[in-house]
Amino acid sequence: MAKLLIEGQRKLRGEVSLQGSKNSTLPILAATLLTEGENVIHNCPCLSDIDVAISILRYLGCSATRHGHTLLVDTCNLNDTHIPDSLMREMRSSVIFLGAVLARCGRARISLPGGCELGPRPVDLHLDSLRKMGAVITEHHGEIRAHTPRGLEGARIALAFPSVGATENIIIAASLAKGTTVITNAAREPEIVDLADYLNKCGAMISGAGDGTVVIEGVERLHGAVHNIIPDRIVAATLMSAAAVTGSHIVINDVISAHLGAIIPAFEEAGCRLSVKEGRIDFKAPQKLRSPGLIRTTPYPGFPTDAQPPLMALSLVAEGTTVFVETVFESRYKHIGEFLRMGANIKSEGRVAVVEGVSKLYGSKLKAGDLRGSAALVVAGLAAQGKTEIDTTGYLERGYEELDAVLSSLDGSVRKV
Ligand code: UD1
Repeated sequence: MAKLLIEGQRKLRGEVSLQGSKNSTLPILAATLLTEGENVIHNCPCLSDIDVAISILRYLGCSATRHGHTLLVDTCNLNDTHIPDSLMREMRSSVIFLGAVLARCGRARISLPGGCELGPRPVDLHLDSLRKMGAVITEHHGEIRAHTPRGLEGARIALAFPSVGATENIIIAASLAKGTTVITNAAREPEIVDLADYLNKCGAMISGAGDGTVVIEGVERLHGAVHNIIPDRIVAATLMSAAAVTGSHIVINDVISAHLGAIIPAFEEAGCRLSVKEGRIDFKAPQKLRSPGLIRTTPYPGFPTDAQPPLMALSLVAEGTTVFVETVFESRYKHIGEFLRMGANIKSEGRVAVVEGVSKLYGSKLKAGDLRGSAALVVAGLAAQGKTEIDTTGYLERGYEELDAVLSSLDGSVRKV
């Protein structure tokens, strides 16, 4: 497994382009299962999670080929409704394939999904919603079997929590259901809007994506489409954190700044200056970072839980006290133990962590415990004095396309060995 070697405290400089969003690409690849004809999906990042989604499509009999950042997907020859345990365990978003296979074939068999350990991550909202749409679902020893005796039917679904994955599963399933589906308390993340945009290009009738209420009029068939995946807002937050802790001036291109509405103010609070223009962020860190204050993660448009770990890395070396309240996931502080090895000053209990900025972090040997946490360790390594060695255990590659090369292109000293 790859390790990253970082020589800390080097200033970054230059320009980078933002990769496409992992969290948009995954549900869109699942949604291709609903379509007849070829799909051309541009700006797909090269990531191990995307490779898993491609493997699932191929296992089901579909053709999926990559040409750089473009994926050509044709699902006409789909000939299976079972996704094996080995593929399902590779990532949590594999559960999105449930709604898609069910809508296309009237039955599906999957095992419970895997993914990063961020506390219990049930799929009850996904299953309850599909049941409301007429699916009969049984669970045996970690396997989920679903079929639709009368086909999927539109339903009114009020989500108890605006789950991103459940909202995506419902939108996908409802696109080919009979009648109208209305989701209230739907997730509003930009990735939901991207999924709806793609499906509407395929002939679906989805309105209200990005608002709390999404209405889907089911249609009989969908065709393939050409689609461009949105840029990855979490990678943007990670790169800005990297620039912030090294006192750097960088430019990030191909950004949709509207997606960073809750993220940009946190950097400004820390004393960073951002000039945002036409898909480009000119980012300047101050000589000395200030605490960003209170970071409370909530569903979009609030502060994203995925950006909490890199912002915590920033707060380690920011003057003053930063308070983190993680409301989305129960257990998302695995990076704290590693930060402490570096000389950070953090107290945490349950969902709250309090960071007192220190004047210096020390390069250390670290081990990643999840995807965004591993990116946060990279940020902390860039901030630290001396060498940091990170055993990423494959997590980083799930969501960041060659982060070592991206940071090296900005003059950072980050090497994969
Ligand atoms: C997606 C993102 C992930 C991000 C998360 C929250 C993808 C591929 N992943 O994950 O990066 O951190 O949104 O923004 O897009 N929950 C239930 N029952 C359910 C479903 C969810 O209780 O049936 C709970 C989860 O345990 C968690 C919370 O809801 O505490 C948020 O989960 P959800 O929004 O579903 O996240 P994911 O779709 O898994």
